[in-house]
Parts: sequence; structure tokens; C-alpha cells
Amino acid sequence: MFNSGTLTFLLGSLMIGAGIGVKATEYPLSEKYSGTSFFDGWKFPVETYDNTTNGDVFWATAQNTSLLYVNDAGRVVLKVDNTTSVPYNEKRYAPKLLSKETYGPGTVFVMDATHVPYGCSVWGAFWTQGAYWPAGGEIDIFEGINQRTTNMMALHTSGGSCTIDNSTTMTGRIDSADCDQSANSGSGCTVYDQSDNSYGEAFSQAGGGVFVTEWTNESIKIWFISRANVPSSLSSTAESLDTSTLGTPTAEYSSSTCDIEHLFEPLDITLCGDFAGLPALLQQTCPALQGDKTCYTTYVIDDGSTTYANAYFELNYINIYASSSNSSGSGSATSPSGIGKATTTITAGVGSQTSTKISSTNGTTSNSASGPTIGLKSVRLSWIMGMVGSVGIWMGVGFFW
Ligand SMILES: *[C@@H]1O[C@H](CO)[C@@H](O)[C@H](O)[C@H]1NC(C)=O
Ligand SMILES: *[C@@H]1O[C@H](CO)[C@@H](O)[C@H](O)[C@H]1NC(C)=O
Ligand SMILES: *[C@@H]1O[C@H](CO)[C@@H](O)[C@H](O)[C@H]1NC(C)=O
Ligand SMILES: *[C@@H]1O[C@H](CO)[C@@H](O)[C@H](O)[C@H]1NC(C)=O
Ligand SMILES: *[C@@H]1O[C@H](CO)[C@@H](O)[C@H](O)[C@H]1NC(C)=O
Ligand SMILES: *[C@@H]1O[C@H](CO)[C@@H](O)[C@H](O)[C@H]1NC(C)=O
Ligand SMILES: *[C@@H]1O[C@H](CO)[C@@H](O)[C@H](O)[C@H]1NC(C)=O
Repeated sequence: MFNSGTLTFLLGSLMIGAGIGVKATEYPLSEKYSGTSFFDGWKFPVETYDNTTNGDVFWATAQNTSLLYVNDAGRVVLKVDNTTSVPYNEKRYAPKLLSKETYGPGTVFVMDATHVPYGCSVWGAFWTQGAYWPAGGEIDIFEGINQRTTNMMALHTSGGSCTIDNSTTMTGRIDSADCDQSANSGSGCTVYDQSDNSYGEAFSQAGGGVFVTEWTNESIKIWFISRANVPSSLSSTAESLDTSTLGTPTAEYSSSTCDIEHLFEPLDITLCGDFAGLPALLQQTCPALQGDKTCYTTYVIDDGSTTYANAYFELNYINIYASSSNSSGSGSATSPSGIGKATTTITAGVGSQTSTKISSTNGTTSNSASGPTIGLKSVRLSWIMGMVGSVGIWMGVGFFW
């Protein structure tokens, strides 16, 4: 199922806006992913287990069709294994998916979900990852852990100047203002949605909703729109999207306080060391760990049917809209989303994949038609679902926030 389908629709209508002076806020459709063809757009990590955050998971593969599938409603499901009894010293299977394409400024990501993962020890995210990640920056669009009740958005940067303040209008609440990894224990500049409909059980009870992320050199805006308020202009079949119709964003990072243009430049830094560990985080919304039990021994091993019954994404679609006129490295009709198309050199993707985070590819592309190689800021989209177990590191490293 992962290899069926073709790339044809990826290329449809890509260049509609090229050269005709589209409004800055209006973007033509670039790629769409839903149903069985959803999996065509994603690949799996090369590593077999979580070797960056030491989460207690093995990454699912294309063979794990009980974890990555299209359900009877035609929606894509990406889930943590909740049927296997995991023995001590083993890990639990969970999905991590990375977009095959990469993206740059001038892109809008739309993700429509009816369920997002939650539960004690569960951590799910939908995010972008810059070139040379983790050093190169990250946009966290959706991220939730344990039994929290609201979504957390964030940027992560390395060096340079990037903060968020209240000078832009947003409906979310700023929790931490400095985006640099070296600040705030690497939490990034976080903004919490103020509506319970944005995460957990309340999310699906409200029918889910749509996360829209507009990334330009001027700002990064994230909207979460609960199902009841989703406008008809936001749909899997919409051939274009005008972000000016979406109202006040849930979070807005402005270039007036953040050097967005350079957020994703390759930088070489060492990430911060250890920080507050997991237990403190876990106990914010889940029972305190007993005795010498850890998150791993309490939740991950043995029967997972109760703990992980809600540890899944259920998705209607993901659409990517791109202002082709602004695509770096293109300027011609050869590269719909410019950046992405030009940087596919990077990895030999294993088949395709489903969910998790957006990670980036090489921030370099060459355009033989129009001259020199240009350094670009580019990202991949990815999905991830991990366990927040063994997490001194998870906090410390911060790049999964
Ligand atoms: C496209 O580029 C122009 C000129 O750099 C800029 O003013 C405009 O905001 C950009 N549009 C988008 C959607 O980023
Ligand atoms: C994780 O594993 C992959 C594949 O073996 C490797 O390329 C990468 O460097 C590893 N990352 C870390 C942090 O060890
Ligand atoms: C996932 O696939 C691996 C082998 O690729 C297999 O060992 C494991 O049992 C599978 N787990 C599930 C839940 O499908
Ligand atoms: C963003 O700025 C860079 C230069 O810093 C430029 O090359 C690129 O075309 C700009 N992209 C957009 C979408 O305006
Ligand atoms: C933003 O405003 C809120 C409410 O007035 C305040 O609690 C918060 O500290 C402010 N944050 C920043 C970063 O200025
Ligand atoms: C596992 O999770 C699925 C939802 O993804 C749920 O329908 C199913 O009942 C759960 N299985 C068990 C054994 O609890
Ligand atoms: C990424 O870009 C750098 C800088 O141009 C280049 O040296 C490197 O070979 C590229 N890596 C891949 C995997 O394409």
C-alpha cells in the first residue's frame, strides 16, 4: 500500500501562480496527501530506534501495517503499538515519518486531523526540521505530551536573535519568549493554544480541526481552527489558500523580533546538556511515579492496551501550498516548490511513511538554469510519536519541542 499510487497529483497545479503576481497571502496548491496515496509523500528514518532522544521506541517500518494504515473512514492512521506486550529491555513500536520533499519560506502547511495522540508517556508532534538539524532550526506546529489539555507551538533557533513578544496579535499565550536553544532549558519560544479543543480528548470530541502554518521571511504564523470553525475555503480539494482570510493566528513569530530569514541557516553548535528530567513533566498531568519505577517501567513495557489506546493520529489530509513566484532557486517552472524539488538528492528514502515530524533536508540546491548554487533555508515536514520515557535528554536536547 505504501508504494502504490504515483506522484502525478503532486505536480498538479503547481505553477498556477507563477509570474502572474499573486497576492502575497494567496498561495497555489503544491502537494496534497490523503488516503492511500498519503504514504507516497513520506519516508521513514534510517535509524531503527530513537537514537536522538532516547525515547523507548523502535521506529515503525512500512511493514508495520497495523500501525500505519487507512481506516474505513478513509483517514490515515499513525499509531503507537497498543497490542503487543513489551518485555523489559525492549522498546515499543511507534511511527516517525519524514516528508520526501523539502520546503522553504513562501510555504503554507495545512494539516487536518480528527484525532491526535495523547496519554501518559505519549508524545506526538508535527513539525519542521531545518537543514543540518538539530542545529538549523525547527518549527513545532503541533506538539503535546501526556495528558496535557492544549497544543504547544514553538520555534527553536541556534544563535542569532529570535524572540517572540506581545506586539503581534495572537490568540495563544506566550510561555517562553526566547527561541534560542541555549535559553529556557532548550524549550524554544513556546506559545500555548488557550483552547482545550487543540489537544487531547477534547480535540477529537470537537471533531478535530486544522493546523495551518504560513512561513515567509516576514513571519511564521500558526493557526489552529477547531472543526466547528473551519471555513469552507480550507479543504482537501482547495486549489489555493488565502491566509488573509483566516483571522488572528494562534501564534505569530514576527521578523521584527526574530531573524526569520536566517533561522534555518546551517550552524554548528553543541546542544545543551542535561536539564529537568521527565518525572517532573510527567507528573504535571499524570500520576506520580511509584517507588523506583520509571516512565519506561510504568508505561512502556508489558500490556499497552490502556496506556496507548489514544496514542494515534487520524488524519483527513495534508496539503502544501507554495508561492511559486517566491520559491528560492526556481524562478522557472521547473521547480514547483523550488527548494523542495531541488534538494531531493539527500536521502535514499526507504519506501514511504506516515507520520511524525517534519525534518529538513540539505539547505542547498543548485539550479543549472539560473546560475549559481544558492544556500537555501529548507525544511522537511515530519511526524513523530515517541514516548517521553528516559527523558532527561528529551528536555535537555530540546529539539523535539
Ligand atoms: C514574495 O516576495 C515578495 C518580494 O520579496 C514579498 O514582498 C512577498 O511578501 C513574498 N510573498 C510571500 C508569499 O512570501
Ligand atoms: C542515529 O542513527 C543514524 C543511522 O544510523 C545515524 O546516521 C545518526 O547519526 C544517529 N544519530 C545519533 C544522534 O546517534
Ligand atoms: C513492526 O515490524 C517489526 C519488523 O519490521 C516487527 O518485529 C514488529 O513485530 C512489528 N510490530 C507491529 C506492532 O506491527
Ligand atoms: C527570503 O529571503 C531570502 C534572502 O534572505 C531570499 O533568497 C528568498 O527568496 C526569500 N524568500 C521569500 C519567500 O521571500
Ligand atoms: C504577553 O502578555 C501576557 C498577558 O498580558 C503576559 O502574561 C505575558 O508575560 C506577555 N509575554 C511576553 C513575552 O511579553
Ligand atoms: C488500540 O488502539 C486502537 C485505536 O488506535 C483501539 O481502537 C483499540 O481498541 C486499542 N486496542 C486495545 C487492545 O485496546
Ligand atoms: C549538503 O550541502 C553541503 C554544502 O553544500 C554539501 O557539502 C553536502 O555534500 C550536502 N550533503 C548532501 C547529503 O547532499
